Amino acid sequence: MRCRLKDWIEKIENAQDLEEIEKIRIELFGKKGYFTQEFERLKTLPKEQKPIVAKELNSAKNALFEALQRKKDELLAKEIQRKLESEKIDVSLYSPHGYKGSLHPVQYTMDKIIEYFISLNYAIETGPLVEEDFYNFEALNLPKHHPARDMQDTFYFKDGKLLRTHTSPVQIRTMQHHKPPIRMISPGAVFRRDFDLTHTPMFHQVEGLVVDEAGKVSFANLKFILQDFLKYMFGDVEVRFRPSFFPFTEPSAEVDISCIFCEGEGCRVCSHTGWLEVLGCGMVDPNVFKAVGYENVSGYAFGLGVERFAMLLHRIGDLRSLFEGDLRLLEQFR
Ligand code: PHE
Repeated sequence: MRCRLKDWIEKIENAQDLEEIEKIRIELFGKKGYFTQEFERLKTLPKEQKPIVAKELNSAKNALFEALQRKKDELLAKEIQRKLESEKIDVSLYSPHGYKGSLHPVQYTMDKIIEYFISLNYAIETGPLVEEDFYNFEALNLPKHHPARDMQDTFYFKDGKLLRTHTSPVQIRTMQHHKPPIRMISPGAVFRRDFDLTHTPMFHQVEGLVVDEAGKVSFANLKFILQDFLKYMFGDVEVRFRPSFFPFTEPSAEVDISCIFCEGEGCRVCSHTGWLEVLGCGMVDPNVFKAVGYENVSGYAFGLGVERFAMLLHRIGDLRSLFEGDLRLLEQFR
């Protein structure tokens, strides 16, 4: 037995990997292994030899078990070390598959618009998306039966509140809380019951409002600012003002830029007119000032759709694609 023990220990010490260790373990301690056989043989020995051999066998068993365990730990540690070295990640290596995020085109456009007005010292104002009739319609001189209030256009709540249909209610809220002079823009989401190639139920607007003592703010000022702003946004375009109507401005105008796709020649995007409509604006209607208790003031206001600007800036044909989160579209704006 003594010789056998030395042989086993040597065999264990020479094992090269965990697989070999496992084989030795089975050879020693398995069902048909060395110790099972030895203990079986014990039964055949004369009575007085039994305890001596049993003791010997047990201590050999313990010694081998320990040796096996020690070798196993040693090989395991080596194996981990080998893995750590071979699977080391070099974080400084260039990866051709890295995905870099980017601003959504609507956010990019919004930022660009805001940047312009901040540079002219306009304040940024915000208001609630769930709005009261008074702010969204009444105070903006939208009479009770104006078609814009129609269920067709407006999302109403049971309690009479509604999702704001434009950013103009922020004009009213700002004038209620500030004395003139006022110079503000209000960017944010608005909601209308509309869904097609050029309309989504939620979109973004930027509202502008400037109010000062009567006579200090004129249509000429409005015209200058918007011309300058549109050239900042779209480059060297022509800008024209067309008479229009909004309940909250008088006089009112819609603003066009010369088509950036065909440079005024006429194409599908501008419906062969050579012009693209981009803004609504006008001098604030006296009834709006009355609703907030302002006297002896004049002012101008304007409103624009951010998605429309983004579509023109990035030449996107379908407005809905801006809201689908398709990476193939978004990846182009990195
Ligand atoms: N609120 C108008 C709209 O949503 C835009 C606008 C704002 C027009 C301010 C004139 C003045 O269409």
